Amino acid sequence: MTTNIAHFNGQLLPLDKITISPLDRGFIFGDGVYEVIPVYEGAMLRGREHFERLQRSMDEIRLTNPHTTDEWLGLVEELLKHHPGNQSVYIQVTRGVPPKRDHVIPKGVQPTVFMMVQPLASPSRDAIENGVACITARDFRWEKCNIKSTSLLGNVLARQLSADVGATETILLREGMLTEASASNVFVVRDGVVVAPPRDNLILLGITYDLLVRLAAEGALKLEIRAIPEAELRSADEIWLSSSTKEVLAVTTLDGKPVGSGKPGPLFKRMHALFQEHKAQVLHRGKVAA
Ligand SMILES: Cc1ncc(COP(=O)(O)O)c(C=O)c1O
Repeated sequence: MTTNIAHFNGQLLPLDKITISPLDRGFIFGDGVYEVIPVYEGAMLRGREHFERLQRSMDEIRLTNPHTTDEWLGLVEELLKHHPGNQSVYIQVTRGVPPKRDHVIPKGVQPTVFMMVQPLASPSRDAIENGVACITARDFRWEKCNIKSTSLLGNVLARQLSADVGATETILLREGMLTEASASNVFVVRDGVVVAPPRDNLILLGITYDLLVRLAAEGALKLEIRAIPEAELRSADEIWLSSSTKEVLAVTTLDGKPVGSGKPGPLFKRMHALFQEHKAQVLHRGKVAA
């Protein structure tokens, strides 16, 4: 097996040689933010947008960004030289290592920067062609879901509910309204219109969510962004999941009941094709630039 090279505070090191202080606020408080960027044959998909969101997450938690977006993109390129092919890059920045444990945000502490690469687990052909099963649950997370925080216990517990019954995702409802899923955004389709929940503090605004909104406009699909009541989710013609690693997937059963026809619907097929075309263009541009 080749060594898995990772980035730690400006250095490239074998993953198993990196050690992190137990006083790191990421470890003690989950006090950090992160990103996951898909890479296809060496080309990042929406790398700049991911680092812009990292900046927004850091602004929300009052953490000074140690790098500009261009510096970040350069650091990822360096790391990717050790990892050809289709990969997912994980980037985490924590509030660093203060001298003692104290909730108050310490001054003058350097953030801890960690990046690693794992093979990209793209959706299987079966998942694309037949769709996936999801369940619903109450959204019991906090009210700052717009921050891509490493404090993911709420998401972990939500995801486990679906894992326990062999389903792909847990779709969350807060006060009778659809928010998102444990690690994905959710879209519904009714009467030929794609509907996405509002871009507010109750969801993570996915880079893929934004891409699908753009692709819908370019592909002349009708799309609305508005609150989605539970009844609308349950009577949807189609439901989709989106994320950087899932791309776009059709949900074909919800809580054990078929969604629409029980097969991936026509608008899903259209969006999936638009997404794949977009990916192919990015890949081509990456090859031309290389
Ligand atoms: C809670 C949550 N919502 C939405 C998403 C989708 O975001 P993106 O499309 O940027 O991957 C994720 C991705 O991990 C997530 O964890």
